[in-house]
Amino acid sequence: MSFYALLSSYTFAYKLIHHRPMKKVTTIISVALLLAITACGGESNSRKTENTRESITPQPKAEVKKSTTMDPMSSKGIGPIKELTLAETIDQGMVAEGKALFDKNCAACHKPDKKYIGPAPKDILNRRTPEWVMNMIMNPTEMVQKDPIAKQVLAEANGAIMADQNIQEEDARKILEYFRTL
Ligand code: HEC
Repeated sequence: MSFYALLSSYTFAYKLIHHRPMKKVTTIISVALLLAITACGGESNSRKTENTRESITPQPKAEVKKSTTMDPMSSKGIGPIKELTLAETIDQGMVAEGKALFDKNCAACHKPDKKYIGPAPKDILNRRTPEWVMNMIMNPTEMVQKDPIAKQVLAEANGAIMADQNIQEEDARKILEYFRTL
């Protein structure tokens, strides 16, 4: 409805209700009120169009992000371990040796079930492949430089670097067996 149509219907309604034409002062106030109402309406309309434009633009960004994040359970990491299949049953002899090795070489920075300097190894095999964990233990320096997941872990650990302790495959494997029990 146009501004003049609104104004004339308003003055007409006034005449009907009060049985006399509008006084000058009342007319001026009504004009001001109507102007304010139409101006507000116009503004909220233009805001609406802005909103729809905003809600369309972010969509392509979200898609780009999705395609760059990778699934850690499909990564074997970088290092000497290419393929490792774990037996279904846990070898308790290896676990005991692995725990001793962990207490000696790793406990300065890792607590079994709590984040410390580095992340907690509890449930690590739900987050990482056995190969990745072995490569991280045996080859942490290269992993942190080149492996996308290790790089991300490094960023989350506020830049604290995992020390390369020259752990050999046999010992790394025992530590991994111990991790399976956490
Ligand atoms: C000097 C401290 C330090 C020592 C010692 C250390 N780590 Fe770490 N570790 C870290 C830090 C910090 C991170 C995470 C940041 C990074 O990757 O650099 C990490 C990451 C890891 C990860 C990856 C965890 C994840 O959630 O992705 C594993 C597995 C790991 N360490 C195992 C070990 C084992 C096993 C030992 C002992 C042989 C060990 N670490 C010794 C500091 C240490």
